[in-house]
Amino acid sequence: TEYQTILVEQKGRVGLITLNRPEALNALNNQLMREVVAAATGFDRDPSIGALVITGSEKAFAAGADIKEMQGNAFPQVYLDDWLGPWDELGRLRKPVVAAVAGFALGGGCELAMLCDILIAADTAKFGQPEIKLGVIPGIGGSQRLTRAVGKAKAMDLCLTGRMMGAEEAERAGLVSRIVPAADLLTEALATAETVAAMSAPAAVMMKESVNRVFETTLAEGVRFERRLFHALFATADQKEGMAAFAEKRKPSFENR
Ligand code: HXC
Repeated sequence: TEYQTILVEQKGRVGLITLNRPEALNALNNQLMREVVAAATGFDRDPSIGALVITGSEKAFAAGADIKEMQGNAFPQVYLDDWLGPWDELGRLRKPVVAAVAGFALGGGCELAMLCDILIAADTAKFGQPEIKLGVIPGIGGSQRLTRAVGKAKAMDLCLTGRMMGAEEAERAGLVSRIVPAADLLTEALATAETVAAMSAPAAVMMKESVNRVFETTLAEGVRFERRLFHALFATADQKEGMAAFAEKRKPSFENR
């Protein structure tokens, strides 16, 4: 497939998507939205892929929605088009997604990072929801996912002032999984995704589904959901292999069934 705003590569069992609009700090225009969603859903359906990585450049993961493209938008059209709706498909990916974030992750860029499952930040990463400075609010879940990630106190601070927070603050607040030196970012993200991709695929997909259930249900229902999936995994060959490998003091070799 020919993409103009992203680079797409398969590295082993990992699908890598690199945002590539350097002239606009990877601002998320409509074409980039369509391309990221197409590439990510393609990897999600591909059985040779076990996990995804989404990254940007050294300077910017993404500096938000493309302000120049959206400034002329009008209500009836964005409403009828359900503009930005396609981004929701990233939240429905079943395979684990690692965000590798260096530099600016602002507005839609921060929201895109939060749509991923493991967020690895370079020490240069800067996060923020500056939409309020443009007279709008976040549009792909920023006010919701940021608040779930860092709590009301910090979410209100960030969203209402539009200020940026650095990697250290973001990790302390619970937005970021790990911080790594900028030079190691992609290597670490790919290694992490490769580790996940080497797990039993049914277990990894159920793991993700189970963690995400936290945000949709009560504790009792969530525990029940987890228990059902846990029981179901005893129907897989990979459970037998994983436990036999432990008992035999060897590495497991999963076949994703
Ligand atoms: C369009 C953008 C852009 C954006 C940067 N550029 N961000 N173009 N949309 N969001 C362009 C600049 O116009 C400039 O183009 C080039 O990228 C380099 O940016 P500079 O501003 O010159 O770089 P710098 O001085 O280093 O400042 C970096 C920055 C700043 C602090 C990140 O660019 C900035 O504040 N950007 C906007 C951030 C923002 O408000 N994001 C939220 C958008 S609203 P030229 O042609 O002049 O060289 C949003 C809504 C969410 O995301 C809805 C869901 C998607």
